[in-house]
Amino acid sequence: MTDNNTQKKFFGIMSFFIKLFQIILYVPLQIIFIPFAVIGLIVGIYKGMEKSKKLGVSFSAIKALQYRWFMHYFDTRPDTRSIAFIKNFPCESHFGLLSIFGALIISQRLFGFTTRFGKISRPGEENFISTAARRVLIFDRIMEKYVDEMEQIVIPGAGFDLIALKYTKEKNVKVFELDQVNTLHVKTETLQKAGIKHHWITYIPVDHSNESWVDKLLEAGFDKTKKTLFLWQSVSLYLDADIVKKTLREMADLCAEGSIIAQDFYSKEFSSGEYSKIVKRQMKVIEKRGEPWKFGIAMSKNSKAAVESFLIECGLKILEINQFGEKLDIEPFYCIVEAEKL
Ligand SMILES: C[S@@+](CC[C@H](N)C(=O)[O-])C[C@H]1O[C@@H](n2cnc3c(N)ncnc32)[C@H](O)[C@@H]1O
Repeated sequence: MTDNNTQKKFFGIMSFFIKLFQIILYVPLQIIFIPFAVIGLIVGIYKGMEKSKKLGVSFSAIKALQYRWFMHYFDTRPDTRSIAFIKNFPCESHFGLLSIFGALIISQRLFGFTTRFGKISRPGEENFISTAARRVLIFDRIMEKYVDEMEQIVIPGAGFDLIALKYTKEKNVKVFELDQVNTLHVKTETLQKAGIKHHWITYIPVDHSNESWVDKLLEAGFDKTKKTLFLWQSVSLYLDADIVKKTLREMADLCAEGSIIAQDFYSKEFSSGEYSKIVKRQMKVIEKRGEPWKFGIAMSKNSKAAVESFLIECGLKILEINQFGEKLDIEPFYCIVEAEKL
């Protein structure tokens, strides 16, 4: 017992000095980067806020793409396609991101100074800050698990996610991506500029809130008799509850035997901004860009049961559920669910 305590104390002191040493190396590097970071910040704000507004592109989709950039450079998920995409993307600045985060990236790579960007939380120990990265990895895993057994993949609200390009190239599967017209237009133009092949994907412009995505999907060649994977990542938060329900019921109706619907949900506490001050701030920034958070499930009592009963209303049943934060001393605030038709 005493030996254990001494050992723990020793490792605690060691890791304190290692961290201190890393900070001492990082600070001068960051100082060198300051002038670049200032320019990068201005360019980044112009492209991310002004240019994207002019082009009518989804701001939340830009933010989701940014995470994929962080994950690539902070070595938690290699993604050269998203990097090539960002270099040609009118609404984000690769130079801006590099100049702002360059010192941290170099410090992590050269002397192991790891910040939250370079860490992935353990399952069930996620908080708001670590959610985006874990989410991306879980949806990757879902795609890997099902891609070879599916005949069609449908990604509503695909935004600038390149997951389909990563997993379906040269596979015998039909892929449909849906999103609002301006977002898809900028996506395909950027893919073209970046020289990223995407000819096997059918892009379908649609606004879920006032158009029938099902009619458009069927017109584009979707086959109701084929086994399909629906990936609905980070979209329901932005839709009214009745649209979320209607969309899920429609997905269930389109499911042939063996089809899977993978989706995520935030809690009501989260979508109303009550979860924390950081969440409220983030909510306000996104709201200003015309994408208010609208939908959440009341998860404060029994989150799994709440999600289960919501899905039953939509004609679906849970096959697997990942509840973020469930091992911490907090109520789960977000979950990713794999479901099938009831
Ligand atoms: C947070 S982004 C997620 C994008 C992508 N799924 C990802 O994970 O990177 C939300 C996406 O939902 C789309 N979206 C929101 N409301 C929509 C609507 N009414 N009709 C179609 N797409 C919508 C946005 O355009 C945006 O691309």
